[in-house]
Amino acid sequence: MKAFFIALCMSFIGFSSMAKGESMKDVINRSIDQAVVQSKAMVNALSSQKDRLPKSINPQTGELVTSDSRWWCSGFFPGTLWYLYELSNDEQLREAAEEFTARVEREKFTTNNHDVGFMLYCSFGNGLRLTQNKAYEEVLLTGSKSLSTRYNPEIGLIKSWDSNPAKWQFPVIIDNMMNLELLLWASKYSGDSTFYKLSVSHADKTIEHHYRPDYSCYHVVSYDTITGEPHVKQTHQGASDESIWSRGQVWGLYGYSMMYRETGLERYLIMAKNIAALLIHHPNLPEDKIPYWDYLASEIPDEPRDASAGALMASALIELSGYVDKKLKKEYLSIAEQQLRTLASPEYLAKEGTNGNFVLKHSVGSKPHNSEVDVPLTYADYYFMEALLRYKKNVLKN
Ligand code: GLY
Repeated sequence: MKAFFIALCMSFIGFSSMAKGESMKDVINRSIDQAVVQSKAMVNALSSQKDRLPKSINPQTGELVTSDSRWWCSGFFPGTLWYLYELSNDEQLREAAEEFTARVEREKFTTNNHDVGFMLYCSFGNGLRLTQNKAYEEVLLTGSKSLSTRYNPEIGLIKSWDSNPAKWQFPVIIDNMMNLELLLWASKYSGDSTFYKLSVSHADKTIEHHYRPDYSCYHVVSYDTITGEPHVKQTHQGASDESIWSRGQVWGLYGYSMMYRETGLERYLIMAKNIAALLIHHPNLPEDKIPYWDYLASEIPDEPRDASAGALMASALIELSGYVDKKLKKEYLSIAEQQLRTLASPEYLAKEGTNGNFVLKHSVGSKPHNSEVDVPLTYADYYFMEALLRYKKNVLKN
């Protein structure tokens, strides 16, 4: 009888741990180990090409596609290396992070687009946070000044692109919310509140003009330079002007969570919570929680997923879970956990030596331009690393 009872208990324990599956700790550690292997191979592949940074792969040949530092994504691989150094304490990764960060330095003088924040804060910003290297401060401050030149005080926003002036007088894309983190660093570092005021103005105007009543947003809003009012609201990378382009929504979610962290202003927390509610409860968010490239793409469920949006959303939700009540915290973490589990599954996590040595498969750059569709993208890896790190620190507390 006793033996039967023990056997029953054992099988119950076995069943419940099977039903639960791999622990989050194991999911995280396995993903980090795999990312270290892939990223070291990427470093080796690019070590002799002194000004190159990874971008994606050619979908036909599988060959690595690289860029120089001018591409908006140049800071993501150095940032991935910094996160991996932080996660592993591996000195080899620190040296690689320093080397690849240096490849982006000249972007501190860039004034012809808004991507300076992405390029410098992911690379030099993380480098400074982890090493306190004084030389990095100058790069970040110079970059902040360059980015600030794109602010128009009459309109109250930073101009994203200089392209297509016949179509857009003063285009601002939702992605631009991400560049404010660099400026908020500059405000704290230099004590010059201009950087802060300009960031708050940009974030407030974006609430006013980019967002619809359901908290979805336009990709591009262009402003009339005489009246300062929007003259065009449309998409560039989404399925249609009124659609819900996934990565754009998540840039907003991440951007307002970050703005709340940096300013403490309640209106940004409210925005982030409302955006999160839309994205989490939308009927077109798949069961495994990795969004289609656009929530309203016409052929759902036969549309590509966007792992970059999934990774970015997981990272943003983990951060936001730290600012809300218990019920929302549980909800946000549950979605982020499902996203991390999915991204760590064989469907998304690349096997060693495959996928051009990127960590994640299945992202979408711009489907309307048939560019970078269902390929690895360097920013998917960056935000995946950030989400793993945030989960480890904030939830597992190690
Ligand atoms: N323009 C940046 C992005 O593709 O999200």
